[in-house]
Amino acid sequence: MTVHFIGAGPGAPDLLTLRGRDLIAASPVCLYAGSLIPEAILAHCPPGARIVNTAPLDLDQIIAEIATAHAAGLDVARLHSGDLSVWSAMGEQLRRLRALDIPYDVTPGVPSFAASAATLGCELTLPGVAQSVILTRTSGRASAMPHGETLAAFAATGATLAIHLSIHKLQETAAELAQYYGSDCPVAVVWRASWPDERVVRATLADIATAVGDTMERTALILVGQALAAGDFDESCLYSTDYDRRFRAGRADAVKG
Ligand SMILES: C[S@@+](CC[C@H](N)C(=O)[O-])C[C@H]1O[C@@H](n2cnc3c(N)ncnc32)[C@H](O)[C@@H]1O
Repeated sequence: MTVHFIGAGPGAPDLLTLRGRDLIAASPVCLYAGSLIPEAILAHCPPGARIVNTAPLDLDQIIAEIATAHAAGLDVARLHSGDLSVWSAMGEQLRRLRALDIPYDVTPGVPSFAASAATLGCELTLPGVAQSVILTRTSGRASAMPHGETLAAFAATGATLAIHLSIHKLQETAAELAQYYGSDCPVAVVWRASWPDERVVRATLADIATAVGDTMERTALILVGQALAAGDFDESCLYSTDYDRRFRAGRADAVKG
């Protein structure tokens, strides 16, 4: 018996990995995290599967579900939105499973920052403009930010920011970031990236809060940085004609195939 933690992706059912789909189909128990998992993904569960929405459960109740499946020798598919490496609450579940000696594995998913960038059709790391992406959030009711992980500290780097769980603080976030990136810095807010009702608002730090107004809540990502609108950037060396590449035909030691 194994608990399969599976990143279910940002929303579109076909942004689930093939491995994730096959594990869901092979698991007689499925625990999924609330409203962000589309029904089409749950349709991969085998007939007769026990399917439990864990949104109203506390950690003890979730672990009790898993322990019951473990006692019966039944595999569990544990679904969280996006990827599991960020804001999934997987860490605390894994710690409990280790203490109980219950086996698990982890299958990654498409994170919302990548789905949002795809929606925008942009690369977040442009040569000479930004070479880092910072995945962050602002403090919320459930989680305070650790000392040092401030927007100001991240903004001082000039990197592209992908700010999660913060759409309700858009105005103050934009005002603070304008001190570092300039008020004309491009911003994009992507709401429900990859869902059928996905929406995008593009503006600058000066006017993004007005442009979004109260039209978006909860499942939105705030992307900030010059890379979002830069047309004037260096081409990467990777494809330049004079760049000495191991895989480029013509080089004596070029890799074939
Ligand atoms: C609890 S976190 C989950 C993050 C997830 N594990 C991931 O890999 O992106 C929820 C936050 O992720 C962002 N998010 C998740 N899905 C999204 C989507 N489809 N479109 C835009 N933002 C999304 C929002 O900022 C939301 O408040």
